[in-house]
Amino acid sequence: MSIIQCKINEILGAEIAGVDLTKSVSDVTRAELNALFAEHAVLVFRDQSLTPPQFMQAAEIFGSLMEQQIKKFVLPDYPLVGCNSTKDLPRKNGKLQVRGENYHTDHSNDIAPPKATSLMAVEIPTYGGDTQFVDVRRAYDDLSETQKTTLQRLRSKHVHESSRSPRSFAKLSPEDMAKIPHTLQPLVIQHPISNRPALYLNTGRMEGIEGMSPNEGFALIDELYQHATQPRYEYRHQWRVGDMVIWDNRSVMHQANADYDPEEYRYLYRVMLQGDKLQSFD
Ligand SMILES: [Fe+2]
Repeated sequence: MSIIQCKINEILGAEIAGVDLTKSVSDVTRAELNALFAEHAVLVFRDQSLTPPQFMQAAEIFGSLMEQQIKKFVLPDYPLVGCNSTKDLPRKNGKLQVRGENYHTDHSNDIAPPKATSLMAVEIPTYGGDTQFVDVRRAYDDLSETQKTTLQRLRSKHVHESSRSPRSFAKLSPEDMAKIPHTLQPLVIQHPISNRPALYLNTGRMEGIEGMSPNEGFALIDELYQHATQPRYEYRHQWRVGDMVIWDNRSVMHQANADYDPEEYRYLYRVMLQGDKLQSFD
């Protein structure tokens, strides 16, 4: 009998209890967790306080780890583990410049973007710094049949930083920049496990829509972004020390918040899991 307890969030995601991620899990538990992940897209594990090797092992329940793109923010002894630290962030007019401060899906310009990303909270400020998620499967489901038919045929070019990006990305060295792909991605993707369709959006990296004028393409992207980021699709995670959260980049978008006291310390480990080339939904 399963020891997993699953509390499903009202809108999106599920909180999992009854699993100790400091230890390896059985094949049965692994299969159950993967099924829950495909269905709920965001899994929250409280009170885990994992060391970097334990965190890697826990994330590997769901797939294979992939390299972090920004090498200056990795742990020296564990280069597959990145870190989000207040101490690494620049400030502008006293406000922290936090990476990921608009809804996005990670590395969408990769030919095979990471299927999942996970964070593990080591230090958390007393207020703020939540991570928000929106369910782009439900956002797609709620479109009209005419809209769905139109969008299924469309693709968008994803680049390192869109000419109309709402945020700035990390500046890369010319060598790293040369390795960054530009990729045409479907506007509607199909999840390889659940088979559910989802909108695939990233306003920071989308450079219009194939076959449309720039203004027409960016207007459509903006309209879909406004639709998909409504509160009715949102789960907002308030971090506690020891939380491990993993999310499916093909089913949700996520965003960071820079609303905490810049003098307080916020530190999380981060890993990504290798994904496959995205499938369009036909
Ligand atoms: Fe992100």
